[in-house]
Amino acid sequence: MSGLLEGKRLLITGVITDASLAFHAARVAQEQGATVVLTGFGRLSLVERIVKRLPEPAPVLELDVQNPEHLSTLADRVGAHVDGLDGVLHSIAYAPPSCLGAPFLDAPAEDVSTAVEISAHSYKSVANAVLPLLTRGSSVVGMDFDARVAWPAYNWMGVAKAALESVNRYLARELGEHGVRVNLVSAGPMKTMAAKSIPGFAELEDGWGDRAPLGWDTTDPEPVAKSICAVLSDWLPATTGSMIMVDGGVHATGQ
Ligand SMILES: NC(=O)c1ccc[n+]([C@@H]2O[C@H](COP(=O)([O-])OP(=O)(O)OC[C@H]3O[C@@H](n4cnc5c(N)ncnc54)[C@H](O)[C@@H]3O)[C@@H](O)[C@H]2O)c1
Repeated sequence: MSGLLEGKRLLITGVITDASLAFHAARVAQEQGATVVLTGFGRLSLVERIVKRLPEPAPVLELDVQNPEHLSTLADRVGAHVDGLDGVLHSIAYAPPSCLGAPFLDAPAEDVSTAVEISAHSYKSVANAVLPLLTRGSSVVGMDFDARVAWPAYNWMGVAKAALESVNRYLARELGEHGVRVNLVSAGPMKTMAAKSIPGFAELEDGWGDRAPLGWDTTDPEPVAKSICAVLSDWLPATTGSMIMVDGGVHATGQ
């Protein structure tokens, strides 16, 4: 039987450890037959070491989404490895410490601006940078944490995610004419490096498994990775501008 992503050429951003959601998305994508090109931010030798744990070798390109030159050269650098792209995963977020856990009222505007630039605006930047490589029917996927409500501790990252949800809808409008789908996977809490940097993450994850109709394991990346691959595949051909909730069902429950 051939894999769900047989023959697909994917660009996957956001691997920093082997707990990264992007790492598991890349792993499942390769298991399902995809050719994967990765990007890493900053510690490239560390990322390259982590990437060696994937089932197949994959090139790692440098991408700091705040670096205009990295963005303007991205399509050419990706094009050196694959002759086009069928999918892109944006799995990038950052907020300065004042934006997370600290009193919401204290975050200065420049820190909020950094959080929104890296966590929301960059979704557009990455999609735009590789647009020349995207073929009709391709899929752009971003990573969300349900921003329709206010959570404990998540604070200005929640505001950045609300912006990301809006960017997702506007990107879907713009890229539809290119035949490109744009969707977010809205994941429940997972123990990754980004999660560890949220003081008060325990408050977010505590009880998630009890509230989730399907249960939820914050240490099992498989459901999120598989869902990302499903959205990257050809099997949601008429879905764009959507948030696919992958949270065990918590979004649908009250208390
Ligand atoms: N872990 C969770 O509970 C959870 C839940 C829902 C959504 N998400 C989202 O999933 C995505 C991936 O996070 P993760 O949990 O795998 O954590 P992670 O720390 O493994 O990944 C975050 C990535 O962002 C990258 N990054 C930060 N600044 C960057 C920049 N300037 N340029 C390029 N890359 C940059 C980091 O290098 C890292 O690879 C994020 O968007 C996060 O908000 C995480």
